[in-house]
Amino acid sequence: MTESVRVKVWDPLIRIFHWSLAAAFTIVFMADEDWLAVHTLAGYTILGLLVFRILWGGIGTPYARFSSFVRPWSEALAYLKALLARRAPRYLGHNPAGGAMIVLLLLSLMSTALTGMLLYGMGDAAGLFAGLAAHAGFLWPDVAESVHEFLANFTLLLVAVHLLGVAVGSLVHRENLIRAMIDGRKRVPAQATARES
Ligand code: HEM
Repeated sequence: MTESVRVKVWDPLIRIFHWSLAAAFTIVFMADEDWLAVHTLAGYTILGLLVFRILWGGIGTPYARFSSFVRPWSEALAYLKALLARRAPRYLGHNPAGGAMIVLLLLSLMSTALTGMLLYGMGDAAGLFAGLAAHAGFLWPDVAESVHEFLANFTLLLVAVHLLGVAVGSLVHRENLIRAMIDGRKRVPAQATARES
């Protein structure tokens, strides 16, 4: 059996970002209109985390950078085909399909947070867009509410697919991806120095 060592892949900020995002996402869903203060606080937290992640995608550690995992859609599809054929290569960072899912998640989370802020401004005359309330009339708060709800449910669907992807990736490559997102390390053959094994 080949000997392996565990190397650092996810830096501490990415791990803190990830688990804070998962926690804030859970809170934002559990605290709806009845707990509006908690809901908006969790929503602003998500927005702040997204701003951090976008910056870190540009200037962060190698595996955190968008350039290391954002690939053309064709590559993500080719990866999924290879997965079905049971010959998907293993990646130390995010695989192309995982990378596509992360982009979708970040975009969907951002759109949900922004429409939430618009709704809060128009409907409750509160938050950054409170000034919109005076001009919004009856229609726009309703439109914002429908779009916000649709995007929130769409994001929930993406999270479900994300969790399925994590489970499949862990099984196919016989590695615990959740543990890697906790301690930041993944295994490579002892003699390997390449980024992919
Ligand atoms: C208990 C629930 C969750 C688990 C176990 C989990 C697990 C993971 C794992 C293992 C990865 C790394 C995947 C890889 O190795 O390529 C990851 C990445 C990621 N997850 Fe989750 N996840 C959870 C919930 C969520 C939620 C709720 C969101 C968003 C609302 C989310 C968003 C992300 C994002 C954006 C990344 C990319 C990390 C980065 O590079 O910034 N996750 N997740």
